[in-house]
Amino acid sequence: MPDPSQYKTPLFDAMVSLAESRKISFHTPGHKSGKGIATRFVKYVGPNIFSIDLTTLDEVDSLQKPTGVIKEAQELAAKAYGADRSFFLLNGTTVGNHAMIMTVCNPGDGILAARNCHKSVIAGAILAGARTQFIYPAMDAALMMSMNVTFDSVRRGIETHPEIKILFITSPNYYGICADLERIIPFARERGLLVLVDEAHGPHLGFHPELPKSALSCGADMVVQSTHKIIGGMTQASMMHAREGRVDVMTLAGVLKVLQTTSPSYILMASLDLARMQMATEGEKLLSKALELARWARAEINGIRGIGCLEKKDVLTRGMGDLDETKLAINVSGLGMTGYQVSQALNMEHDIQVEMADPFHVLVIVSIGDRKEDVSRLVDALREIARGRRAAKKFDWEQVRPPTGIPQGRSEADGLKPVNRPPRDAFFAMHELVPLEECAGRLSSEIVTVYPPGIPMLVPGEVITEDVVSYLSRVSAMGGTVDGLAEDGRIGVVK
Ligand SMILES: Cc1ncc(COP(=O)(O)O)c(C=O)c1O
Repeated sequence: MPDPSQYKTPLFDAMVSLAESRKISFHTPGHKSGKGIATRFVKYVGPNIFSIDLTTLDEVDSLQKPTGVIKEAQELAAKAYGADRSFFLLNGTTVGNHAMIMTVCNPGDGILAARNCHKSVIAGAILAGARTQFIYPAMDAALMMSMNVTFDSVRRGIETHPEIKILFITSPNYYGICADLERIIPFARERGLLVLVDEAHGPHLGFHPELPKSALSCGADMVVQSTHKIIGGMTQASMMHAREGRVDVMTLAGVLKVLQTTSPSYILMASLDLARMQMATEGEKLLSKALELARWARAEINGIRGIGCLEKKDVLTRGMGDLDETKLAINVSGLGMTGYQVSQALNMEHDIQVEMADPFHVLVIVSIGDRKEDVSRLVDALREIARGRRAAKKFDWEQVRPPTGIPQGRSEADGLKPVNRPPRDAFFAMHELVPLEECAGRLSSEIVTVYPPGIPMLVPGEVITEDVVSYLSRVSAMGGTVDGLAEDGRIGVVK
């Protein structure tokens, strides 16, 4: 039985009630409940959305200093997620990662971070002036993908850097692969480390017993989730959850005040209020359906020659904690096609858009919003693409495999490699732009990623190797997007 209080949606209710009161507005937003909005826009989306596009007013509370319905909505979120405090975020998990790092790091402090982190983690280190040491997830040649970090690699990282008191893990990764948080978090905490988890891909965990365990339930100190990526939040709407005690929650609240807008979108915040209510009251039922669809699709896809979909046993036998089965990482290399080509074919020939492609995979998110017809169409489309490739030569992993880097992030034989200069120093150092072919051996001043997933191939302060240069060129040629270069394709390096 759901907790009866979780049916409440205090923020949304207050917004609707204010909109329906039809008070005369002499305040922002300037469109005045939609009356000033371009007619085409109103015609397309309807009038109601504009009447709840509100600003900070007594009736609907203030995100910067919540004392009313936003406070209540955040408290309900904390209760639903098992946190002491939860905060609504309006610039996605990006701002949450910045805030977590700025809350716990003083300039010069170290962070031990899994290298499959999103670029916002490096940006957080730049903002905070933190130093970084990385733990590299192992790359699996058989699966052609980077796994998450293992318990052993984290243990080694902690033992090698006893001076570092902050551990940063990303779990699940983009492909749904979860690190073994049940072992990693207690181990780190016992050694006095604070554990921060980017759970951008896991706002649904904890609402279904067959999904991986949430980071909070494993004892994480702070967690950020992209409510908008997987459940009912609208794009940009995320949540931060914290445990009081080892984290100074007042400092966190203060940092968020510095980083977040003073004009938060009430529509986005209402979507968080409602997404939490939905998960807490009927999450298990909705997620059962999503899991059932994903399991059905996985079995069908695994029956198609030349295509394989990542399975739970694949990750459990490689030292990972779990797999979120609602993510379908579909390896298409057996068709003699890259993931980019299959993604393109799905889009152009079958009107199907996937979340992401890499040289070997397309990634599909199955969520509470999917229907059987949609998932069947995906399976049929993959079957048709595969049928046309019967005679194709098997994709040669060895020819495209980068020696040290892959698009899911860099991977370094499970080792630890120091960044040559703290990210902030290199980011603000005197720098120059040089062509990609001439930058090997120089120190990067930029965060360079293949996007998506946005995991840095280069971090400011890191030496640019020939391997990385060659890989970035090949990924671009294959149709991947390299982000972090100047408009003319040159790269920023420290002078
Ligand atoms: C692991 C991870 N963390 C953080 C982010 C950033 O999240 P948001 O888009 O909500 O700012 C992403 C986005 O793809 C991500 O994959």
